Amino acid sequence: MNLCIFYFSGTGNTKKIVDLFSEQFSLENCNVVVKQIETCLNGTDDFGLDQFDKIGIAYPIHAFNAPSIVLEFARKLPALKQQKDLFFIKTSGEPLALNNISSLKLKSILKKKKLLLTNEYHYCMPYNIIFRHAESTAYKMYEYAKRVIPYDAREILTGVPAKLPKVFCGRFLAWIFRIEHWGGRWNGKKYKVNETCIHCLKCVQACPMQNITFDGDKFHFGKECLMCMRCSFRCPQNAIQIGLFNKWKVNGAYAFKKSDDQETHPKYCKKAYRKYFERIDAKIAKENCSADRKE
Ligand SMILES: Cc1cc2nc3c(=O)[nH]c(=O)nc-3n(C[C@H](O)[C@H](O)[C@H](O)COP(=O)(O)O)c2cc1C
Repeated sequence: MNLCIFYFSGTGNTKKIVDLFSEQFSLENCNVVVKQIETCLNGTDDFGLDQFDKIGIAYPIHAFNAPSIVLEFARKLPALKQQKDLFFIKTSGEPLALNNISSLKLKSILKKKKLLLTNEYHYCMPYNIIFRHAESTAYKMYEYAKRVIPYDAREILTGVPAKLPKVFCGRFLAWIFRIEHWGGRWNGKKYKVNETCIHCLKCVQACPMQNITFDGDKFHFGKECLMCMRCSFRCPQNAIQIGLFNKWKVNGAYAFKKSDDQETHPKYCKKAYRKYFERIDAKIAKENCSADRKE
């Protein structure tokens, strides 16, 4: 089977999950091509959808929606002559049911291109805004994703549909929250660089929208910000202030390694993620049980 996964990842979480899917598909003897959405949008290729049996789109949830770059990409995809299966891979900081509405707009754009959603999967990964998760939680989230992705990938390959539960008034709520697309662009113009900056220009090079320029003296932040956090998250000096949301800034990559550190919000995190981890344990137990019965 030939598969293609188009992904956008602001700070690397979604890319890590896409890599796990890609490894699993390869183990199952599939040809898998992984393409970065921002590179596709800057290039001139026609995305070559016809050569693939199934198409995946992966993205981080931003304000209960897909980031605007993902919607823009979907609008630019050519309409197919024949219907194809589509799957979504999403990451978010929390397992909130409201996150399920994030794909509604994307789904309807792609339906018009004859890409029909059959499977969607959602993985909790550590926050890149609001608060920094403990390394121990980040590690646990990633380990759980690693454990369940082989089963999720097999569902996609064997044609077992998997959809996330619907949310009441989801389309309307998603429409309201899409104000973040506009708000992000507005807030992006308020970004500032402080005096600790060493002018490494990593932010300029990393921005998926080429929205940051340096004139030799000052940094300029344009009006195309996606609020993906890549610039401030990766800044080695933690020198970028992210406008109105500066108190929510998270700086520095997660190690995703075993750790004994404690959550800053231990009670909340324990409660918020318990059901998410239990759901994964239950899915794996169920799949193993039915595999044993078949043997
Ligand atoms: C602007 C913005 C909005 C976000 N909104 C949500 C949200 O609505 N729900 C949620 O659970 N996480 C939200 N997050 C957290 C990210 O979805 C999460 O950390 C994700 O794994 C980041 O993936 P990436 O590293 O591939 O960009 C948001 C992050 C950003 C930067």
